[in-house]
This record gives sequence, structure tokens and C-alpha cells, in this order.
Amino acid sequence: MVNAVNVTHARDVYKPKVAKQMWKPFLGNGLVPNDGESWKRQHKLIMPAFHKLRIDAYASTMAEYTRDIVGEWVEGEQRDFRKDMVDLTLRIVGKTMFDTDLAHDSKTVHDAMVHIIEALFDHAQTPIPAPRWWPSERNRRMVGAIDAIEDVIEGLIEERRRDGRDHGDLFSHLVFAADEEGGMTNKQLRDEAMTLIFAGHETTAHNLTWAWYLLASNQDKVAKAREEIDRTVGDRPVSIDDLNNLPYLDMCIKESLRCLPAVWIFAREARKDLRLGDYFFPKGSILAISPLALGKNEKYFDNPEEFRPERWTREFERWLPRGAFVPFAAGPRVCLGKQFATMEMKVVLSTLIQNVDVNVLDGFVPDIIPQISMHPGERGMQMRVQFREGAPVRLGKGNKTGEMSDVHAA
Ligand code: HEM
Repeated sequence: MVNAVNVTHARDVYKPKVAKQMWKPFLGNGLVPNDGESWKRQHKLIMPAFHKLRIDAYASTMAEYTRDIVGEWVEGEQRDFRKDMVDLTLRIVGKTMFDTDLAHDSKTVHDAMVHIIEALFDHAQTPIPAPRWWPSERNRRMVGAIDAIEDVIEGLIEERRRDGRDHGDLFSHLVFAADEEGGMTNKQLRDEAMTLIFAGHETTAHNLTWAWYLLASNQDKVAKAREEIDRTVGDRPVSIDDLNNLPYLDMCIKESLRCLPAVWIFAREARKDLRLGDYFFPKGSILAISPLALGKNEKYFDNPEEFRPERWTREFERWLPRGAFVPFAAGPRVCLGKQFATMEMKVVLSTLIQNVDVNVLDGFVPDIIPQISMHPGERGMQMRVQFREGAPVRLGKGNKTGEMSDVHAA
């Protein structure tokens, strides 16, 4: 059934009108809410930006930025791991997609995202959503937040058009991509840039947060992953060539996406009357697919509550029915950033495991808040920084500069 909606009947379903309405003020007609011929054209223009070679080139940036944040951590301090991951993934998006350091815009973008997501969630739960001009406090905050991100994006568009050269980032591709109808308008660029900033960091940050939590609760799995990383990478920075040689880490990531997928639900609307197997869906029906519910289905995953990366053998994956594991959706509307995100999770987690203990505070149980993406809420994911003996970042090995940071040299 899931595979029918995602793949074989993909033409018979659209993104639900209610979701489009919810996204409109924020993502406009960007790839996520777009549909039909307009989606096809935009998808064709944007897809080459996600070519494997271009994406592979970002692995070193991902590793460098992860080492940078670990370099700022102080032995023994308590941190909110979720917040660190949101900052890190936003910086990675800034560099790889826009060749800019979002560090100084990071607070603007981050605060704006928080207001937007709160407002979108309210909006999704209200039968008659408020229009953009509605003078409520929350609506005003959302409009202000959107304006703030738009300012950042408009600056980037202007700069790129003036400069006229490909920076090797994803946005360069978008600005200069053209087909027989020409290139994208500034409005289309704005919508796609918003989409990439939004889709490109939140979900990855939250999946990293859940992977961390699941690993922290299963120290025997951390030990296995660490042994593999030490053997394969040692204390040099993780590189793109290492990633194929970390199969156990790969299994841990798949298992975390099964147990606690950040995109816990997505939906489609039937464009016409649909018969799928024994079920009939009249035109306009909403079909919701939940990777979270699928991951708990005993038909596919025995003992589903157990975090068991070892289940992800080749034989198991061959046996698993199509549609049983779809954290990135599937078919024509599959996540465009799937490869980017998978690589990012691998690089970030392996760099962290190389350097610090994987833990959450003793007795800390996170909240699980199923909003647009599933996250641990305001209490975050509290951890205690404990460097491993001989951690490469502390020793200055694999640091960008090769120098010991002041904090850790002390
Ligand atoms: C672990 C992290 C990620 C997960 C679990 C994830 C999951 C998903 C899912 C389930 C969808 C389909 C949503 C729907 O159809 O309603 C989607 C769409 C999309 N994702 Fe991701 N995503 C992740 C990271 C990323 C990243 C890093 C990027 C960009 C660099 C990205 C860009 C997109 C885009 C552009 C779409 C829309 C594709 C289309 O409809 O043509 N995602 N993602």
C-alpha cells in the first residue's frame, strides 16, 4: 500500500491542499509543496545540483565543522545536544548550499525557524488558518521571521548574480540553471532557497539527536561502532573514502531512522478515485504514511522496540518489502537530500564517536514531540561532555589548524 502511494500510483496523488496552504507563506511554491508540471520543471532544474560528485565534495566541510564544534566543548560541561546539532547542520547548509558562513546569521535563521515552525503547527491544527495579515502575536512573529530569512536570501541572490561565478555550492547551480524556458525567477530562487534551508537542516539535526539518544542508551553498540571507526579512520579526520568502510555505523543510522524517524509522517491527497488492493479511496482522501508506525510493525521488524543495528544485514534488506522502510519517502517525490543527509549523519556521528563519549545525562528521559518533524522539545537532549582519552580534536590532530585549542590545552 505504501509503495503504491509513493511509487506505482505516484501520478494519482498530490501533496494535500491543506499542507500546501500551510507551507505557502514560508516555502511558497518550493519543491516540497509544489506539484504537477511546475514541480517537474523545478525538479529537473535542481536535481543536477545533488549529483553525487558535487555532494561527495562536501564531506570534508562536514567533518571540519563537526571538529570545530567539538573543539568548542569543555570537559565536564552539560550541553543540549539537539541545539548543537541544529547549529551545526545550519552551518553546514550555509557553507555547502550557499558558500556562506551562517554563523553570524545563524541566530536570525534559527530564531526565525522556531517562530515559523510554531506558527505552521498552529496553522495545521486550525480549521480556518489565519491569513498573512492576521494581527495575532504569533502571526506577526512568523511574518517577521520570514522577512528576516528573506533578507538573508535576497542578499545571497543579489551577490551571486552580481558575482556571476559558480562557487561550487548548491545555490550557484540554482542561480545559473536554465532550460529552454530560461532560468529561475528571483521568486522561484527565494522559494527553493527557503526549502533547502528548511529541509536541509532541521530533519538531519533531529535524526542525529535521536541517533545519539539511541546509541547513548546502548553502549555495547557504541563500542562496536567505535572499534570500527578506530580501525578504519584512526585519529585523522573522517573522509569521503572512509564512509563505505563503516558498515556498522551505517546499520546504526538505519536502525535509528527506523526507531525514531524525525519525519515521522507525510501525506498525499488522492487526485481521483483510487482503488489500492482491497481499499477504495474517493477523490480528495488524505493518505498518511508514517515511517514511525512502519518501523514499529512486527510483520517487518521483530522485537521492534529493541535498538538492534545488526538486523540490517544484506539478506534482511533484500527480504524487506518495498515501502516498509521509507524515512526519506520513495518514488518520484523521494527526498532530494537523501544522499546528502545520509553522508552528513555518517560524517558527524563518526567524528563525534572518535572524540567524545556518547551519553545523555544520568536519568535524563527526553520528551518526544511529534510536530512537523519529531523532536525532543524545549528540554532538548542533555548530555555531559567527556572527551575520550587521546581524542584527536583535543590533541590537535585533525584540527583545521593542527593546533590545540586554548580550552583544551589548559
Ligand atoms: C535525515 C534527514 C532527512 C530526512 C529524514 C528527510 C526526509 C524527507 C522526506 C520523507 C521527504 C518527502 C516529504 C513529502 O513528500 O511530504 C523529503 C523531501 C525533500 N527533502 Fe528531505 N530529508 C532529510 C534531509 C534533507 C536534506 C539534507 C535536504 C537538502 C539538502 C533535503 C531536501 C528535500 C527536498 C528538496 C524534498 C522535496 C523533494 C520533492 O518533493 O521533490 N532533505 N525529505
